[in-house]
Amino acid sequence: MPMLRRPTTTAIALLVLSGCEPGVTPAPSAANAASPAQSAALFLEHCAICHGEIGDGHGPRRGSLFRKPPDFRDLGWRAGKTLPELRAIIRDGRRGTDMPPWRTLGEPAIAGLAEHVLWLGEALR
Ligand code: HEC
Repeated sequence: MPMLRRPTTTAIALLVLSGCEPGVTPAPSAANAASPAQSAALFLEHCAICHGEIGDGHGPRRGSLFRKPPDFRDLGWRAGKTLPELRAIIRDGRRGTDMPPWRTLGEPAIAGLAEHVLWLGEALR
C-alpha cells in the first residue's frame, strides 16, 4: 500500500507564512472545508473503491465500471479543473456514469474532498 503523506511543501509554506510552531495543522484553504485529515479519511472510505487510494483511477471496482475514473494525478486531466467544478461533480455525480452524487455528505465534506482530489495530484508524483 502506498504511503499517504500530507502535502509537505504546502504545509511547510503555510507554517512559515503563518509563523506557527511545527506540528500545528495548517488550516484548510476553504473556510468551511473539512480538515485535510478528515478529507483523506472520507476519500478512503467512499471514493478509493473506484478511484484508488492514490487517485490513479485503479480502485478495486475499476474493472466493472463502464466509464473508467480518471487519473487525478494526470496533468492533462488537472489542467483547468477548478475547485467549484470539482465540488459540483462530487455533489451531483455524473449522469450516465458510475460516479454517484455525494450531496448527503454535506458541503464541508464535499469542499474538503475537492481539495483532496487536487492535492493527490500535487503530492503523489
Ligand atoms: C462507484 C464508483 C465511484 C465512486 C464510489 C466514486 N466515483 Fe468519482 N467517478 C467515477 C467515475 C466512473 C468517474 C468518471 C466519470 C466520467 O467518465 O465522466 C468519476 C469521476 C469523478 C470526478 C471528476 C472527473 C472529471 O473528469 O471531471 C471526481 C472529481 C470524482 N469522481 C470524485 C469522487 C469522489 C470525491 C468520490 C467519493 C466521495 C467519488 N468520486 C466516488 C466513479 C466513482
